Amino acid sequence: MRSTSLKLAATLGLAAALSACAPESQVARGQYLVSVVGCSDCHTPGGFSPHPDMSRFLAGSDTEFSLPGLGVFTPANLTPDPKTGIGTWTVDQIATAITTGVTPSGRILSPAMPWSDFAHLTHSDALAIATYLKSLPAISNQVPGPAAPRQDEAGTVQAILQRSP
Ligand code: HEC
Repeated sequence: MRSTSLKLAATLGLAAALSACAPESQVARGQYLVSVVGCSDCHTPGGFSPHPDMSRFLAGSDTEFSLPGLGVFTPANLTPDPKTGIGTWTVDQIATAITTGVTPSGRILSPAMPWSDFAHLTHSDALAIATYLKSLPAISNQVPGPAAPRQDEAGTVQAILQRSP
């Protein structure tokens, strides 16, 4: 009898501890998903090199994607910096952008950002990713916005050499 109530107390204690740290586990889940999906390859300077700039982790790329007929797109600063990152976006707005491509301004992200793949994330996983991004240190790093297509160019992915350190 005594051991049963001890076990029960232990179980209840564990449940309480788990619910108390729910936001942290959501951040950990988001961090896990971001590392598996490889958001950092595209969204960190040097992400396609052997030495990504981890001091600017997820703070925007130095590599642009030129999509024929669509335009030139640079992976954005995903840190919570309000001016150069997505600091003014809510968790829900970030999750919506990741899974539907629709940003708070109503622009639809280009296919250079694989949101049509991320549409398969569960809602709670998309929220976990967004919550993790919100927990990052804010880093000021302005990347170029979308630009018009270059007429003479086939599809390319290229480093923006003048912006590399
Ligand atoms: C293959 C490269 C690639 C990968 C992988 C990738 N992204 Fe992107 N992402 C982009 C590009 C390019 C843009 C800019 C697209 C545009 O401007 O139309 C972008 C834009 C975004 C934006 C919009 C930000 C803004 O300010 O407009 C968010 C949010 C985002 N990505 C989150 C993520 C997350 C989270 C992951 C991982 C789950 C991820 N991305 C993985 C290439 C990528």
